Amino acid sequence: MPPEALPGFDDLAYLLQGQRVVVLTGAGCSTESGIPDYRGPETRRKARNPIKYRAFVGEAAARRHYWARSAIGWPRFKQARPNDGHRALARLEAAGVVRGIITQNVDRLHQAAGSERVVELHGALAEVRCLDCGHLSDRDALQARMGALNPGWQTRSAEVAPDGDAELSTDATADFRVPGCATCGGVLKPNVVFFGENVPSETVDDAWRLFDGCDALLVVGSSLAVYSGYRFVREAAARRHPIAILNLGATRGDAEAWVRVQGRCGRVLPALAEALGTSPSSRAA
Ligand SMILES: NC(=O)c1ccc[n+]([C@@H]2O[C@H](COP(=O)([O-])OP(=O)(O)OC[C@H]3O[C@@H](n4cnc5c(N)ncnc54)[C@H](O)[C@@H]3O)[C@@H](O)[C@H]2O)c1
Ligand SMILES: [Zn+2]
Repeated sequence: MPPEALPGFDDLAYLLQGQRVVVLTGAGCSTESGIPDYRGPETRRKARNPIKYRAFVGEAAARRHYWARSAIGWPRFKQARPNDGHRALARLEAAGVVRGIITQNVDRLHQAAGSERVVELHGALAEVRCLDCGHLSDRDALQARMGALNPGWQTRSAEVAPDGDAELSTDATADFRVPGCATCGGVLKPNVVFFGENVPSETVDDAWRLFDGCDALLVVGSSLAVYSGYRFVREAAARRHPIAILNLGATRGDAEAWVRVQGRCGRVLPALAEALGTSPSSRAA
């Protein structure tokens, strides 16, 4: 079925016409780029067990296990490229329809597609922060240091998991050597929000600034199971702003949505961009 024929598509285009739209995106936006989600139809069968903030901060063994898996998963994660859905959102921003994106994704694919106003609610895996001195550094630099400390490690094959980790037993990672902060020797953490950790208040403030300048909310590829994203749906509902949801499968925000479209982001968003007056040729890719 062409995306234009999907139930709700016309209502979606009509609802967003002439509005200042803020988009809330989730993992479903990046599955077509090869990065698995947590709660999609494919992933539900596999039990994912992402690391909790408390374990990471409190246990050296948990950190070692995390970084050992991440050292394998990162090269593949970072190879992911934006898909047609990311590109359509960038066109919608260039056309002035979308005013910005609040993303729960940590993959930087919106920026790679050309989106300019992006609030990374859960941070980015491309960055590493020192828990002791706060120094922010590049994930690639850490990858090189981990490679030097653990020769041969990165070539081991393992399945890539949603957060850029790879599946490995704790025994297999016991000998992995974790580098400390290059500045102070302190404990390094990927600059992403783990389960059980709060979104930094500056990031939340920035997201609200973007939200406040808009009058409609479009949710794309998120189950809204995580409250840090769902709160924007709650607030849009409280302000009686139009809310549209484009997602495969049910979401926690379905009751608040004015329009729901069940379709793939990579197919529906380009059609939406066209319906709202932007075409792929109107902007250099
Ligand atoms: N790409 C990433 O950066 C990434 C990937 C996995 C998890 N995460 C993290 O985990 C949390 C997961 O919450 P979430 O709500 O973002 O994701 P989620 O996994 O809870 O929900 C994703 C939703 O997208 C739907 N979906 C999958 N593919 C789709 C497609 N092509 N088109 C439309 N819908 C599609 C799924 O059915 C599901 O309902 C986030 O907070 C994020 O930080 C990030
Ligand atoms: Zn430090």
